[in-house]
Amino acid sequence: MALVSAKEMLEKARDGKYAVGQFNINNLEWTKSILQTAQELNAPVILGVSEGAGKYMTGFKTVADMVKAMIEELKITVPVALHLDHGTYDGCYKCIKAGFSSIMFDGSHLPIEENIAKTKELVAVTKQLGMSLEAEVGAIGGEEDGVVGKGECADPDECKKIADLGVTMLAAGIGNIHGKYPANWEGLSFETLAAVKAKVGDMPLVLHGGTGIPTDMIKKAISLGVAKINVNTECQLAFQAATRKYIEAGKDLQGKGFDPRKLLADGCAAIKETVKEKMEIFGCIGKA
Ligand code: 13P
Repeated sequence: MALVSAKEMLEKARDGKYAVGQFNINNLEWTKSILQTAQELNAPVILGVSEGAGKYMTGFKTVADMVKAMIEELKITVPVALHLDHGTYDGCYKCIKAGFSSIMFDGSHLPIEENIAKTKELVAVTKQLGMSLEAEVGAIGGEEDGVVGKGECADPDECKKIADLGVTMLAAGIGNIHGKYPANWEGLSFETLAAVKAKVGDMPLVLHGGTGIPTDMIKKAISLGVAKINVNTECQLAFQAATRKYIEAGKDLQGKGFDPRKLLADGCAAIKETVKEKMEIFGCIGKA
């Protein structure tokens, strides 16, 4: 199956009261692990690529070509969207050219009028190409690719202004944070989420910072219109813990343990397990 826009899968999720997982990829092993898990569980999936991860993988064209080839060779039949995560204006155009099926333009740090103007332009471009577009209002807290957000709550009126431009999905800051949540985290602001939902109506909402949010909060967020949840750190933690354990056990010194494919196998299994656990919570298993 060719890459698809995230529009249809998110509208189905919104209507069916579940969320599609966006899992960020960093290399071939992660991509393969996530695609295989989605296929095994018959779940739609979004592969997120940050600008830093794109650079690491030598560029967005490499990423798009790798994902497309992998879908074909692994015979993946569930819907897969390849999505730029927290894209700059230039990054969005690079991904459009490279063959992504979805982009996020993160203009949340810009003055609202500039965020609106650039988002509006990208709405027109992506619509013409049949791609989906995510916009952000209210910075998500924590650090991602060196960009530190404050974790503010979005202004529902600003959300409406951006949603009315015709984006496919909207990420609104509701106190969520990328990376691990601090012990004194106050939790998601459901008040903000409900106020945003009241203003934007049917627009599928996106919850960033999916690592470490308690299950009951995730379920409540879904009930209030969240249809896409992003997960990155949790896969990183699971991957590094499994790989470290493998090395510490000295397995890399035994038999063919020096084989990099074997060295990374436990990490890949850990990513698969994490993706499965998240999909169970999000309720998207069997929804492809
Ligand atoms: P976490 O790293 O907290 O899982 O957040 C991922 C994310 O929101 C990517 O945009």
